[in-house]
Amino acid sequence: MTLKGKTAVITGSGRGIGRAIAIELAERGANVVVNFWRRRQSAEETANMIRNRGGKAAVVRANVGDIDAVQTLVQKGAETFGSVDIFIGNAASGVLRPALEQEAKAWNWTLNINARSIFFGGQAAAHYMKEKGWGRIIAISSIGSQRVLPEYSIVGVSKAAIEATIRYLAVELAPYGIICNTVSPGVVETEALDFFPSKDRIIETAKERTPAGRLVTPSEIARFVAFLCSDDAAMLVGNTIQLDGGYNITM
Ligand SMILES: NC(=O)c1ccc[n+]([C@@H]2O[C@H](COP(=O)([O-])OP(=O)(O)OC[C@H]3O[C@@H](n4cnc5c(N)ncnc54)[C@H](OP(=O)(O)O)[C@@H]3O)[C@@H](O)[C@H]2O)c1
Repeated sequence: MTLKGKTAVITGSGRGIGRAIAIELAERGANVVVNFWRRRQSAEETANMIRNRGGKAAVVRANVGDIDAVQTLVQKGAETFGSVDIFIGNAASGVLRPALEQEAKAWNWTLNINARSIFFGGQAAAHYMKEKGWGRIIAISSIGSQRVLPEYSIVGVSKAAIEATIRYLAVELAPYGIICNTVSPGVVETEALDFFPSKDRIIETAKERTPAGRLVTPSEIARFVAFLCSDDAAMLVGNTIQLDGGYNITM
């Protein structure tokens, strides 16, 4: 399905999985709002990659951990391209430590950037989507929402909050043609892994344990997100889909 005429706001889309989603949705015709917080150059590169392929992109700096900033991000998307039809909550941050060493500051930081941004960003975007009777709100979670990963405690809680947020939005918004789902990828080789103490071991273990025999790629996630944006996925409401080559179902 073409996304021509639709506008997608993708949080944290200057690099990694967010960049792949931005490029994929633009390839299918969407106008894309590339959001970054710290790495402007990466975000400009993403936007230029889209423009060089004939697409339309705007770069907007916003710390999505700040409610006003995430609402303004959506508003700027609508001002630039006329509306917002697709909101992708992809940006993530977090403090990796054992649970007993975590502090309230890390809790607020992580939950606000990862989960609150999707609750209130999705809420702001839904305002525009309701007017058109069509919309998509898609979040990116991880297996740490359900399983216990080393040092992942607060990030795991934030991912569980994301999945619950999407279920609540999904039920409230489906009557307006706004479809909400969560994609939970397995291990993906991006810069995010640099923050884990044992990156190489994580990658090797994931490959060994994945029935498909390899890791999922950013572009595979992006193509799946594009499918969720299509009308073929209109009856998939409020789910968390594991896109992990079967990793999650193995012992
Ligand atoms: N990589 C994996 O193995 C994996 C597995 C499962 C799920 N995921 C999920 O997939 C998503 C993308 O991960 P990734 O691997 O692509 O991560 P990444 O390469 O580390 O990129 C993180 C992105 O989030 C943005 N970001 C961080 N804090 C932000 C803030 N406060 N406001 C706005 N943007 C912010 C960054 O923007 P700046 O560059 O401007 O800082 C960057 O674009 C995350 O939700 C992650 O949890 C990843």
